[in-house]
Amino acid sequence: MTRRLFPDGFTWGAATSAQQIEGGRFEGGRGESIWDRFASIAGKIEDGSNSDIACDHYHRWPEDVAIMRGLGLDAYRFSIAWPRILPGGRGQVNDAGLDFYDSLVDGLLEAGIQPFPTLYHWDLPQALQDEGGWGERDTAKAFAEYAAIVARRLGDRIGHWATHNEPWCAATLGHEEGHHAPGHLDPSEALRVAHHLLLSHGWAAEAIRREAPAAEVGIVHIHCPAYPATDSRHDRDAARWFDGLFNRWYLDPIFRGAYPADAIADRIAAGHLEGPELPFLREGDLDAISAPLDFLGLNYYSRSVMKADEDGKRVAVKVAPDDELTQMGWEVFPQGLHDSLLRVHRDYAPRKIYVTENGAAYDDRVDNEGRIADPKRIAYLREHLLAIQRAISDGVPLAGYFAWSLMDNFEWGFGYKMRFGLHAVDSETLQRIPKDSASWYRDVIANNGVVDESTPTIHGESRAIDL
Ligand code: FCB
Repeated sequence: MTRRLFPDGFTWGAATSAQQIEGGRFEGGRGESIWDRFASIAGKIEDGSNSDIACDHYHRWPEDVAIMRGLGLDAYRFSIAWPRILPGGRGQVNDAGLDFYDSLVDGLLEAGIQPFPTLYHWDLPQALQDEGGWGERDTAKAFAEYAAIVARRLGDRIGHWATHNEPWCAATLGHEEGHHAPGHLDPSEALRVAHHLLLSHGWAAEAIRREAPAAEVGIVHIHCPAYPATDSRHDRDAARWFDGLFNRWYLDPIFRGAYPADAIADRIAAGHLEGPELPFLREGDLDAISAPLDFLGLNYYSRSVMKADEDGKRVAVKVAPDDELTQMGWEVFPQGLHDSLLRVHRDYAPRKIYVTENGAAYDDRVDNEGRIADPKRIAYLREHLLAIQRAISDGVPLAGYFAWSLMDNFEWGFGYKMRFGLHAVDSETLQRIPKDSASWYRDVIANNGVVDESTPTIHGESRAIDL
């Protein structure tokens, strides 16, 4: 029997984001986002879908709050759609947009669930993109104004604010690799974007503190630990390189007030930067970015195993057998979450950490009895929770956990194909159907931890979690 209880007061949550679940694209005065525009371009979304309706959370949120209450959630992490609040990105405020979140926040509080909003989960108003988007410093200014508007309206009822979700994804997937909106392929722009995202975080955090002094403020970073494929010097350097671009490029400015020198050198060597001077950096920026935070949100899905190939190119390699991959092709590697938490705690010492996303996509099916058995998701969540439990015993100040996601939703460039939900959403009726993982998670929350008799099944001995 495994019985792993979490500390008293540990926050149990689930997460979603506005663009992925709300729909209501043309309602309540909402403006266009870069994801609306991106999805309208043929070939950008794998299944040809868009998020005009998505899960229709815009109308069904009371039902969704009831579902959360049924799970026993302590907190709900959602995001606020900037184009609902400021359809043109800045200037004219759309009161109907603020009203929507006002009602949602009240509904959550009535259900005993803490609202845990994120201000930016990638849905930039298209109007700002038309003026250069995050490549422009002015967008950071507009973000701080937006943050102040939202905090002024909701700040009396919100205990925790996250400024950004995963700036790495917004910068790199959106501006360097082109998989995400706005779909650019310009590494130098991506670095400028990353800086403006970080800068806007600093300015928005300041605005939130001004408007809602009692609230806790943080940022959400996607952490992908890098492991060398072998112990060779070249493979170890490939892992260092990946870690520099993916993790330290964001965590170092936030917690140390400086970009990592080795990663700057890598970017210069790649021709993405001209010289050691960062052209987008102005005096005072790093002070704003590194102002103390109350918490770090850490999202974790998988790891990266790095190798230098024959031409010296650094590449990620697949080391796990197929049955240890999720539908996304991501390796199930719970030890990586433990390692990430310890590393972040050791190197950056945030006051508190929340795991703000963790979960797995599998191709779940409703069976003849209307049930959705998703044992792999349960195993994934369970093993990651045990990894977290170990990190807590090792001294990491871990305050809560948010499963990604409350329900299947618009998974960006994959459309509705990739399903991370604890609940399915019927594509015709939009009815929410709980998967087995939903009742499993409800029991975890009720017990304040993992209590069951099974042993981890996905992993071989060498990686088994020490129970
Ligand atoms: C994260 C995103 C989230 C979702 C999950 C699967 O990177 O923050 O919106 O797409 O991945």
